Amino acid sequence: MDKPKVVLGVSGGIAAYKACELLRRLTESGHDVRVVPTASALHFVGAATWSALSGHPVSTEVWDDVHEVPHVRIGQQADLVVVAPATADMLAKAAHGLADDLLTNTLLTARCPVVFAPAMHTEMWEHPATQENVATLRRRGAVVIEPAVGRLTGVDTGKGRLPEPAEIFEVCRRVLARGATEPDLKGRHVVVSAGGTREPLDPVRFLGNRSSGKQGYALARTAAARGARVTLLAANTGLPDPAGVDVVQVGTAVQLREAVLKASADADAVVMAAAVADFRPATYAAGKIKKKDGQDPEPIVMVRNPDILAEISTDRARPGQVIVGFAAETDDVMANGRKKLARKGCDLLVVNEVGERKTFGSEENEAVVLGADGSETPVPHGPKEALAEIVWDLVARRLG
Ligand SMILES: Cc1cc2nc3c(=O)[nH]c(=O)nc-3n(C[C@H](O)[C@H](O)[C@H](O)COP(=O)(O)O)c2cc1C
Repeated sequence: MDKPKVVLGVSGGIAAYKACELLRRLTESGHDVRVVPTASALHFVGAATWSALSGHPVSTEVWDDVHEVPHVRIGQQADLVVVAPATADMLAKAAHGLADDLLTNTLLTARCPVVFAPAMHTEMWEHPATQENVATLRRRGAVVIEPAVGRLTGVDTGKGRLPEPAEIFEVCRRVLARGATEPDLKGRHVVVSAGGTREPLDPVRFLGNRSSGKQGYALARTAAARGARVTLLAANTGLPDPAGVDVVQVGTAVQLREAVLKASADADAVVMAAAVADFRPATYAAGKIKKKDGQDPEPIVMVRNPDILAEISTDRARPGQVIVGFAAETDDVMANGRKKLARKGCDLLVVNEVGERKTFGSEENEAVVLGADGSETPVPHGPKEALAEIVWDLVARRLG
């Protein structure tokens, strides 16, 4: 089988060096990559590097190898075009259909999915001109990854940093896997919670659970690749931020509730994949609890935590908002799942069995998605991202 053909467009930003790692990841995972830099990009990383790493000739202009008509052929033959980093200038040119070099010509002739990974100073990113160009590109179906927050070119920090190449690669992989289908969550805002809450007893101890956050992160990544704006509420995961996803860190169930209520105000869908503690210690000891000679430990008195899933399901922030819960059960899995769906009032409930080596921390999952309409969608054992895709299929159908 032919290798999937990827065009890696590189425009003239300081983060161009990071595209070398993206290129390596793409070629090493079996893609045929043609690098099309802009003339400005070559100020940062030279043509020799792109050519040697990709195994293809590199040019910035339409005037080289004219007999092969590269300004048309490269775009037409591509299965995916990814522009990383995408400068403010490149986003403007792409949004307005300019075609004054090989990369902009390629963007006009490509009919495959297109991913832009913008990187620039915060002021440039926030400028209404750039924001309007991004909105235009998204409306036309391109996946524009939100820049990360962090250190920029000089000593300053803010939003505008290129996400890590490994994360851009993940987006490319998922977009390629979906083929030429329209990003069906484009224009949608989705909120995903991930990980497990920790309920502190004292400054060094907490009551927690085994949730790793991997299922929630898979949901966030797949939603971003399907064009959604994603807010990920991460509870104690320690996982790298997915590219193009706004990540909000939370610790306890009470903090998660606040973050969910805030983020879901304008959300089209909320997926509660985090394992939220039902109870928390009634008191918090300001100093470390000490053992006392000859005395039994004090019992821990617990109080109920808020039921976030039930609250947002009963009191929807927007009409038509789709709410998805997760139920991790150890016994009587399906019967308990049905009862939980009715009790919580959500639209979909992903029910899975948990145990020593099942679900928590694993790369794989197996579940049944129950619908409030009585539907049951079994998801066979497989990667967590496969389950995530099915959840979004069901959500997208409900969003119409
Ligand atoms: C040191 C340096 C760093 C730059 N970094 C960025 C950047 O990160 N993002 C950006 O949009 N422009 C950046 N620019 C400005 C672009 O290089 C400039 O807008 C150029 O015209 C872009 O051309 P291109 O879009 O054809 O690659 C930088 C310029 C210099 C000199």
